[in-house]
Amino acid sequence: MEQEVNFMPRIGDAAPDFEAVTTKGKIKFSEYAKNKWVVLFSHPADFTPVCTTEMSGFATRKNEFDALDTELMGLSIDSIHSHIAWVNNVYERTGVLFDFPIIADIDMKVSKLYGMLQPNESLTAAVRAVFFIDPKKKIRLIMYYPLNVGRNMDEILRVLVALQTADLHKVALPLNWKKGDRVIVPPPVDLDGLKTRQQEKYPEKVDFYLVKKDL
Ligand code: BEZ
Repeated sequence: MEQEVNFMPRIGDAAPDFEAVTTKGKIKFSEYAKNKWVVLFSHPADFTPVCTTEMSGFATRKNEFDALDTELMGLSIDSIHSHIAWVNNVYERTGVLFDFPIIADIDMKVSKLYGMLQPNESLTAAVRAVFFIDPKKKIRLIMYYPLNVGRNMDEILRVLVALQTADLHKVALPLNWKKGDRVIVPPPVDLDGLKTRQQEKYPEKVDFYLVKKDL
């Protein structure tokens, strides 16, 4: 499907499907990483400094994504030849291997599907987007950063753990939550629930609408 350049996918949408040439061969997204989480992220251009630091960050922490049953997939509006040369160059210079598929989106098809091409920032380079896509291929969280500010790998991993924790335990996560912190029990949605909530004991309770428990 071809999208308008001003199309923006939203949280809760089905992740748009596509077929693309990548550094790991041709991939059809809907058949990739079946029943796994996917972190799909774009960078503006190969052989640029901020992008090199970010891609190296994903590569060196890939074991943490693996442990969270999550596949990585990068993208930029560059050719497959450029990707191969850049991956090889970074490996030769630093020993860090970008061991995950990087989409060669030279025709901008995938960038447009995911709102990664934001024309007031750049007409030719994708912004720094991160899509967190769950095993049912639904978009669960989106980050967009401009060309000149690198992302934070701790935050990317933190929100991935938060999404998985929220799903598994049917809870919500407060400000600055990190693994091991108390979690929020969703507030009651009717009067019976309110009565129950008022009788229940929690390690932390501000009022009926804000209680926390340990996992
Ligand atoms: C960078 O990765 O350093 C970069 C890429 C495009 C525009 C500005 C910076």
